Amino acid sequence: MSLLAAPAAASTISPASNDDCLTCHSDSSLKSSAGKPLFVDQDKFKASVHGQAEIACIDCHADLKKVKDFPHPEKLQPVNCGACHEKDAAQVKASIHGQPQEGQIPITVTCRDCHGTHEIRGKDDPESLIFPINLPTTCEACHLERVKTKRGRSFIEMYNQSAHYKALEKAGLTLSANCANCHDGHNIRSVSDPQSLVSRKNIIRTCGVCHVGIRMGYLEGVHGKDYVKGSQDVPVCTDCHSEHNIQSPEDLSSPVYATKVAGVCSRCHDDERLARQYGFLTSRLKTFSSSYHGTASKFGETRAANCASCHGFHDIRVSIDPKSPINPNNLAKTCGKCHAGAGKNFAKGKIHVVSEKTENKWAYFAKIFYIVVIAVLISVFLIFIAADLYHRLRIRWKH
Ligand code: HEC
Ligand code: HEC
Ligand code: HEC
Ligand code: HEC
Ligand code: HEC
Ligand code: HEC
Ligand code: HEC
Ligand code: HEC
Ligand code: HEC
Ligand code: HEC
Ligand code: HEC
Repeated sequence: MSLLAAPAAASTISPASNDDCLTCHSDSSLKSSAGKPLFVDQDKFKASVHGQAEIACIDCHADLKKVKDFPHPEKLQPVNCGACHEKDAAQVKASIHGQPQEGQIPITVTCRDCHGTHEIRGKDDPESLIFPINLPTTCEACHLERVKTKRGRSFIEMYNQSAHYKALEKAGLTLSANCANCHDGHNIRSVSDPQSLVSRKNIIRTCGVCHVGIRMGYLEGVHGKDYVKGSQDVPVCTDCHSEHNIQSPEDLSSPVYATKVAGVCSRCHDDERLARQYGFLTSRLKTFSSSYHGTASKFGETRAANCASCHGFHDIRVSIDPKSPINPNNLAKTCGKCHAGAGKNFAKGKIHVVSEKTENKWAYFAKIFYIVVIAVLISVFLIFIAADLYHRLRIRWKH
C-alpha cells in the first residue's frame, strides 16, 4: 500500500477482517521479537463459542479496530473479556482470585487461566477446560504446581483420592462434585469469608444441592435444629466426613467407617465444656467402649453397633422424641436390626451405664465389690506364698 493512497482511502477502509489477521497469524512459525509463538489455529477458533458466534478477532483485540496499517504495533492491550461478559468479570474481580495477594509470589489469575483464549467452549462441552471432568486439572495447574495455601498442596491433592473424584474420573459421573460445585467458579472466596460456599454458614446448602435428602434429614435432627439457629457447636457435614478426602463410609479411610464413628461423636460428646453448656452427660465413649459392642468394635468388628447404628446419623433425635430410634418404644426395632427376635425385654437394660454412683448405683457397688474381693484374694495369696517360702527356708537353714 503506497503512502500517498492511504489518506484518501482512510475513511472508507473497513476494519480488518479475520482473514486479514490470519494472513500472518495462520503461519505456524510466526514468533514475536521476544520469541513467543503467535500462531492461531483457525479450526480451533472456528469451533470455539466465539468462532461459532462470529465474534471477530478485533472484537477481542479491540485496540486493533483503529489500526489500518499492518504490521500493527508490537505491544497490544490485553483482551478485556469483561467488555462483553460484564457480570462474570465483576464476580471474578470481587473474588479472592481478583484480589492483590500479600506475602507470596504474586500470581494474577485471569479469565484465560481457566477458559483459555481462542479455543474457549461452554461448560457442557467435553473439550472445555471447565467441563466437570476437566475442571480439577484446570484448577490444579495452579493449586498443585504454583500456589501454596494454608493447608498445603497435599490437602488439595487429597481430592484426587476422594469418592467424588473417582466418580467423576472413573465412572464419568459429571453430576459428582468438582472444585466449582463446592467453591463456585467465579465467586471463589477464602474459607474464612462468610460468603464462601464452604463457609460454615453455607456448607449444608452447598453439599445439600446434590445430597438433598440428607440435607433435609439433617435439618430435622438435634444438630440441624441448632445449626439453623446459628450454633457453632453442632457438627456440619465436613466435621464428620472431612472436606477434600470424602470417602464412602465403607472405605477404611473414612472418618465415619463403622469402627471410627465413636471417635467422631465423642470429640464433642465427651467434651466437658459442651456437656456443661448443653446439659448432656459425658462418658458416652467410655460407656460405649466398655460395652459388648465397643469391645467388639475395638477388635475391628464392623458388624457391632456403633453410635450411629443406634442413634442414626443425619437426623439424630433425643430419646423423648417419638421418632427417635432410641425412644423406648422403638428400641426393640433398633436392636432388632442386628439381634433377630429382640423384644422389649432385650432392650430394657440401660445402654450407657457409667460405673459412677450418680448413673447406676448397682453397677457402681458391683464394681467396688469386685475390686475389694480381687484385692483381698491377691493379698491372701501373696501372704500364703510368703509364709510357705519362709517355712521352706527355715528348714534348709536348720540343716
Ligand atoms: C502483516 C502481518 C500481520 C498481520 C496482518 C497481523 N499481525 Fe498480529 N502480529 C504480527 C507480528 C509480526 C507480531 C509480533 C510483534 C512483535 O514482534 O512482538 C504480531 C503480534 C500480535 C499479537 C501479540 C501482541 C502482544 O502484545 O504480544 C496479537 C494479539 C496480534 N498480533 C493480533 C492480530 C490481529 C487481531 C490481527 C488482525 C486485526 C493481526 N494481528 C494482524 C503480524 C501481523
Ligand atoms: C474471545 C476473545 C478473542 C478472540 C475472538 C480472539 N482472540 Fe486472540 N487472544 C485472546 C486472548 C485472551 C489472548 C491472550 C493475550 C491477552 O490476554 O491479551 C489472545 C492472544 C492472541 C495472540 C498472541 C499469541 C497468543 O496466543 O497468546 C494472537 C497472535 C492472537 N490472539 C490473534 C488472534 C486472531 C488472529 C484472532 C482471530 C482469528 C483472535 N486472536 C481472536 C482473545 C481472543
Ligand atoms: C465481543 C464480545 C465478547 C468478548 C470480548 C468475549 N466474549 Fe465470550 N462470548 C461472547 C458471545 C457472543 C458468546 C456466545 C454466547 C452464547 O452463545 O450464549 C460468548 C460465549 C462465551 C463462553 C461460553 C458461554 C456459554 O454460555 O456457552 C465463555 C466461557 C466465554 N464466552 C468466555 C469468554 C472469555 C474468557 C473471554 C475473554 C478471553 C471472552 N469470552 C470474551 C462474546 C464475547
Ligand atoms: C478460577 C477459574 C475461573 C476464572 C478465573 C474465570 N472463570 Fe469463568 N468459569 C469458571 C468455571 C468453573 C465456570 C463454570 C461454572 C459452572 O459450572 O456454573 C465458568 C463459567 C463461565 C461462563 C459461563 C460458561 C457456560 O458454559 O455457561 C462465562 C461466560 C465465563 N465463565 C466467563 C469468564 C470471564 C469473562 C472471566 C474473566 C473475567 C472468567 N470467566 C474467569 C472458571 C473460571
Ligand atoms: C466436596 C466439596 C469440595 C470439593 C469437591 C473441593 N473442595 Fe476445596 N475445600 C472444601 C472445603 C469444605 C474447604 C474448607 C476447608 C477448611 O475448612 O479449612 C476447602 C478448602 C479449599 C482451599 C483452601 C485450603 C487452604 O489451604 O486454606 C482450596 C485452595 C481449595 N479448597 C481448592 C480446591 C480445588 C482446587 C478443588 C478441586 C481440585 C477443590 N478444592 C475441591 C470443599 C471442597
Ligand atoms: C492462575 C492460577 C490459579 C488458578 C487456575 C486457580 N487458582 Fe485458586 N488461587 C490462586 C491464587 C494465587 C490464590 C490466592 C492464594 C492466597 O492468597 O492464599 C488462590 C486462592 C484460592 C482459594 C482460597 C484459598 C484460601 O486461602 O482460602 C480457593 C478456594 C481457590 N483458589 C480455588 C480455586 C478453584 C476452585 C480453581 C478452579 C476453578 C482455582 N482456584 C484456580 C491461583 C489460582
Ligand atoms: C454427626 C456426623 C455426621 C454429619 C454432621 C453428617 N454425616 Fe453423613 N454420615 C455420617 C455417618 C456416621 C454415616 C455412615 C452411616 C453408615 O454407617 O452407613 C454417614 C453417611 C453419609 C453418606 C453415605 C450415605 C449412606 O447412607 O451411607 C453421605 C452421602 C453423607 N453422609 C453425606 C452427608 C452430608 C451431605 C452431610 C451434611 C448435610 C452429612 N453427611 C452430615 C455422619 C454424619
Ligand atoms: C455436585 C454434586 C455434589 C456435591 C456438591 C457434593 N456431593 Fe457428595 N457425592 C455426589 C455424588 C454424585 C456421589 C456418588 C459418588 C459415587 O457414586 O461413588 C457423592 C458421594 C458422596 C459420599 C460417599 C457416599 C458413598 O456411599 O459412597 C459422601 C460421604 C459425600 N458425597 C459427602 C458430601 C459432602 C460432605 C459434600 C459437601 C462438602 C458433598 N458430598 C458435596 C455429589 C455431590
Ligand atoms: C461438633 C460437635 C458434635 C459432634 C461431632 C456430634 N455432636 Fe451430637 N451434639 C452436639 C451438641 C452441641 C449437641 C447439643 C444440641 C442441643 O442439645 O441443643 C448435640 C446433641 C446430640 C444428641 C441429643 C443429646 C441431648 O441430650 O439432647 C444426641 C443423641 C447426639 N448429639 C448424638 C450424636 C452422635 C451419635 C454423633 C456422632 C454420629 C454426634 N452427636 C456428633 C455436638 C456434636
Ligand atoms: C447399642 C445402642 C447404642 C449405642 C451403640 C450408643 N448409644 Fe447412645 N443411647 C442409646 C440409648 C438406648 C440411649 C437412651 C437411654 C440411655 O441414656 O441409656 C442413649 C442415649 C444417648 C445420649 C443421650 C440422648 C438423650 O436424648 O437422652 C447421647 C448423647 C448418646 N447416647 C450418645 C452416644 C454416643 C456418642 C455413642 C457412641 C460413642 C452412643 N451413644 C452409642 C443407645 C446407644
Ligand atoms: C449394628 C448391629 C447391632 C445393633 C443395632 C445392636 N447390636 Fe448388640 N451386638 C451386635 C453384635 C455384632 C454383637 C456381638 C459382639 C461380640 O462379638 O461380642 C452384639 C452383642 C450384644 C450383646 C452381648 C450378648 C450377645 O447377644 O452377644 C448385647 C447384650 C447386645 N448386643 C445388646 C444390644 C442392645 C440392647 C441393642 C439395642 C439398644 C443392640 N445390641 C443393638 C450388633 C448390634
